[in-house]
Amino acid sequence: MNSRSIKMISILGAAALALAACAAPRPVAQPEQPAEAPKEQPAAPAGGEIKIAILAPLSGPVPTFGVSTRDGALLAIEEWNAKGGVNGMKIVPIVEDSQCTADPAVNAANKVIDQDGVKFIIGEVCSKASIPVSEIANAKKVIQISPTSTNPAVTVGSDGAVKPYIFRACFIDPFQGQVAAKFALETLGAKTAFIMLDQANDYVRGLAEFFEKSFTEGGGQIVGKETYTDKDTDFSAILSKVAEAKPDLVYLPDYYNIVNLVAKQAKEKGLTMPFMGGDGWDSSDLDLTAADGGYFTNHYSSEDTRPEVAAFIKAYGAKYNGAVPDALAVLAYDAANILIESIKAAGTADDTDKVREAMKAINFKGVSGQITFDDNNNPVKSAVVLQVKDGKVSYNTTVNP
Ligand code: PHE
Repeated sequence: MNSRSIKMISILGAAALALAACAAPRPVAQPEQPAEAPKEQPAAPAGGEIKIAILAPLSGPVPTFGVSTRDGALLAIEEWNAKGGVNGMKIVPIVEDSQCTADPAVNAANKVIDQDGVKFIIGEVCSKASIPVSEIANAKKVIQISPTSTNPAVTVGSDGAVKPYIFRACFIDPFQGQVAAKFALETLGAKTAFIMLDQANDYVRGLAEFFEKSFTEGGGQIVGKETYTDKDTDFSAILSKVAEAKPDLVYLPDYYNIVNLVAKQAKEKGLTMPFMGGDGWDSSDLDLTAADGGYFTNHYSSEDTRPEVAAFIKAYGAKYNGAVPDALAVLAYDAANILIESIKAAGTADDTDKVREAMKAINFKGVSGQITFDDNNNPVKSAVVLQVKDGKVSYNTTVNP
């Protein structure tokens, strides 16, 4: 579907969706929903069980990421189990709170691998947690598919070698940064940009770097670059520098918790240039008033009219009190389905070499798009640009690789 047809249809479709998704307090699945795996599993069917771990940041700085990821993956697993499981085996999810942070994520990975005997991991969400988990999973021949971690280092080691057991369901940040830069230059007509970044966050640092490269290559100029840490709450010093530099655009590729703070303080300072970011803005807790006028690149729009998207939105809403899935839920659903389809195609859940070969060869019609893996175990997929305006997030355009 080209971007124009999405846009045309979305004029009607979006109105209905916007009512459901945005105008009212946006429904979101609550953490206390009974979505985790039951502690005592019912007796396994004759074919046995397959355990799949879901590492999701249910607590910590970005809990909406964890809830959506868990709920998207659990919906896929429930659908498979309702059809009889995979290869005659029931799928048993094991949900762990990995907090978008390296140490808890590594502990969770070691726990599910060494204590639960898991051979398959869906997660983590955040690149800075997925990267250390990938080292463990790859060394132990455990297949890891991150739904959402976009930093290149998740699937490729510092030596440049591909980690054969590690995959993801999302595009990567060199592409996401390029899409943002192109949109800033061509659609917003920005000639200058100011970048704000947390250097200790692999995702933020990477995306800032890829944006800068594409923006300058495209003829734009970076007129300021300032760093902060994830402990900072007062951004006034940096925002004063932004005010002085008067950029056409501020690029802030961080998660929603930081974006909320920065955007609010920017508005209070009277800054009027648009802010732009990446998928990390995608949250039911994004402050739509503070972020008004902003743009972000993402993996999916709920206004997309493809039938797979409509079917997923319906099934997700039915299971989770009318919640409208965000990109994290969609990608977790796709990641779980890719994994289970690969187990099915391999005909085994014991031999992870066979499963990873099946995954490498997959051609999967996901909710987030058609998925095949490139040489680095990354899908090649399009991105969307979304706009925060008048209390809602709406679709602006689609960019193909
Ligand atoms: N891409 C982010 C990362 O790598 C995670 C993320 C994806 C957050 C999608 C929100 C939505 O850390």
